[in-house]
Amino acid sequence: MSQVFHAVRAPTALIRPGIVYGTVARLCATGSWPPPHDAAVREAVGTTFRHHSPLVGWLRSTTRDVESSGTTVPAGARLLLLLASAHRDPDRPPNAPSLSFGAGIHYCPGAAYTRRLVHRAVGALAAACPGLALADPAGTDPARWAANTGVGGPTRLTVTW
Ligand code: HEM
Repeated sequence: MSQVFHAVRAPTALIRPGIVYGTVARLCATGSWPPPHDAAVREAVGTTFRHHSPLVGWLRSTTRDVESSGTTVPAGARLLLLLASAHRDPDRPPNAPSLSFGAGIHYCPGAAYTRRLVHRAVGALAAACPGLALADPAGTDPARWAANTGVGGPTRLTVTW
């Protein structure tokens, strides 16, 4: 049921402006606005998903005992997996696959569509506002962040153009 709910809700709730704000902020902060080529946008979208996973946490149950970092998680345990935190785990290689869209047999079927949509949105914004800049490049007034442990991300980004 939660999977169905997620699929229905995903286009409106998960593909939120937040991931576009994050990508735009990254490009502006690195002096890459307007993005010089498609690859720059693709790279910024990928890094933003990795650093600011829109789905902060996800529930899972173990079907058998699982060994993790020296701890045995018993079968039948209910877990809240913090996807966003996994990307910042110092024990994980920096080039390990992104977990923003999950992994394995339940990997998000909307991943490619979502990445493409964000890519297109950022490209359209760059074409319309090539002079866009962060209103507060020093970051003393950062974008506000959603107070939500399920779906996170900035709720606004202040810019000039
Ligand atoms: C920023 C956007 C999105 C994020 C971060 C996201 C994230 C995820 C994650 C982490 C999972 C794996 C859940 C698990 O392991 O149980 C998942 C599964 C899923 N997602 Fe997304 N998703 C996004 C957009 C979408 C869109 C646009 C659609 C549909 C149009 C979609 C449909 C689904 C479905 C149906 C599953 C369940 C797959 C399965 O259980 O086999 N998602 N998503």
